[in-house]
Amino acid sequence: MRLIKSPSLINKELKKRRIKGQGIGFVPTMGALHEGHLSLIRQARRDNDIVVVSIFVNPKQFGPKEDLKKYPRPLSKDLKLCRKEGVDFVFFPKNEDIYPGGFSTYVNVEGLDKFLCAKSRPGHFRGVTTIVAKLLNIIAPDVLYLGQKDIQQAVILQRMVKDLNIPVKVKVMPIVRSKDGLALSSRNAYLNHKERRDALVLSQALKLAVFFINNGASDAKRIILRMRQLIEKRQSVRIDYVEIVDPVTLKPLKKVAGSFLIVLAVWVGKTRLIDNFLRK
Ligand code: PAF
Repeated sequence: MRLIKSPSLINKELKKRRIKGQGIGFVPTMGALHEGHLSLIRQARRDNDIVVVSIFVNPKQFGPKEDLKKYPRPLSKDLKLCRKEGVDFVFFPKNEDIYPGGFSTYVNVEGLDKFLCAKSRPGHFRGVTTIVAKLLNIIAPDVLYLGQKDIQQAVILQRMVKDLNIPVKVKVMPIVRSKDGLALSSRNAYLNHKERRDALVLSQALKLAVFFINNGASDAKRIILRMRQLIEKRQSVRIDYVEIVDPVTLKPLKKVAGSFLIVLAVWVGKTRLIDNFLRK
């Protein structure tokens, strides 16, 4: 496994592989790798000759009051995990090589970046689309692996790839959960014991909604109300949003039928967690 910091060097190395006809799978991350990331890496390993993982805590996707400074950065543990999973290249760029002085070009996916998480995280998706567009230019992979856990990010990035004719296939992999149902996230590390217990309410609320829907409920407002009532029973929890939306447009649905996406974002203490359920 090679650790490369320079964008031009990794671009050159991967070009050599491409000339040899080797297919490249790419997993972009901000590090603090957990089983969710590893599931993407394993899929990339199964599908491709070469697997590239990037580790870059992208400052442009954090708001001024968000957790950029305290975001976990366990680099040596991450590198060990990558080595164990058979990753070929880890791209670990410096901030100044990604955003040199005078940097002023951003990618905006309009519309989709107005709903859900975008409301309480203004500018977040602009930061995500900008960094992922840059990484796709540097790595030029055949396949990009994303997690369903960050479903709005995945929908927006798929739109970006399509709209900008970026020649990459996007694979969205299922959410990985701990045994008790909590969706894995690097931010779970912020939770204390009680918050960790209260955080289970996210997956419980999703389960409750799916139970109602499977038993014939279709009025989105009523389903959301029952989810909110369940969540609000937990002391340390504050709802950001609970919505049932169209999986492609992310617009709220009135009637739940066919394909739908249930999404929620909830503050547990000072930690904002997200989760979702997708029926295609
Ligand atoms: O999902 C993440 O970890 C980040 O948003 C990503 C895609 C690596 C871009 O910084």
